[in-house]
Amino acid sequence: MKIFLDTANVAHIREAARWGVLDGVTTNPTLVAKEKRPFHEAVREICGIVDGPVSAETVSLEATAIVAEGRVLAKIHDRVVVKVPIMKEGLAATRALAAEGIRVNMTLVFSPAQVLLAAKAGAAFISPFVGRLDDIGQQGMEMVEQSLEILRNYDFAAELIVASVRSTLHVAQAAALGAHIATVPFAVLEQMVRHPLTDIGIEKFLADARSIPPAGA
Ligand code: E4P
Repeated sequence: MKIFLDTANVAHIREAARWGVLDGVTTNPTLVAKEKRPFHEAVREICGIVDGPVSAETVSLEATAIVAEGRVLAKIHDRVVVKVPIMKEGLAATRALAAEGIRVNMTLVFSPAQVLLAAKAGAAFISPFVGRLDDIGQQGMEMVEQSLEILRNYDFAAELIVASVRSTLHVAQAAALGAHIATVPFAVLEQMVRHPLTDIGIEKFLADARSIPPAGA
């Protein structure tokens, strides 16, 4: 499973890239607003760091305007994937952008039926939000399971990005189900690295290493 970072913070992206496990980045207007810098400038810098797709989201509500916005975003860098919320106008825009060879990540997806429509419209990536479904008492991972089955049944090329990830459990469940990608907040990626028994084990090995007599002693 590929791992994307769900952030617009370049320090976090640089750090995750350094660990050698980063396959891409997703952003959204909320994440970009947190960085307090111009949108296109942030996207350009992120594309220079990560060797993989970088999602940048449109904010227009009408198909023609979404397409125009998508074209501008796609020109920033060839790694840019245009993120479009699922709605009637978004589906029409996805079809048009895909026809031009511009990759779309269809976002704000909360049901398998929406996944089917996004795939039919030609989205290259589809982002079901598991955490926000869990928040309202539904099983986000059940949607992922059904969505993957739909994509497999009909051989759609779209890759599922498990999004709105809240924990390492979400990541492990996504991987066990065979999801193509999980996009994770930096804090979750850090939690994935660590385990208390690993920390205890490292400490013990270092202490024991210090007690080994030097050569020739
Ligand atoms: C997906 O690409 C979104 O950026 C993201 O995962 C939203 O998650 P949230 O529910 O944490 O805002």
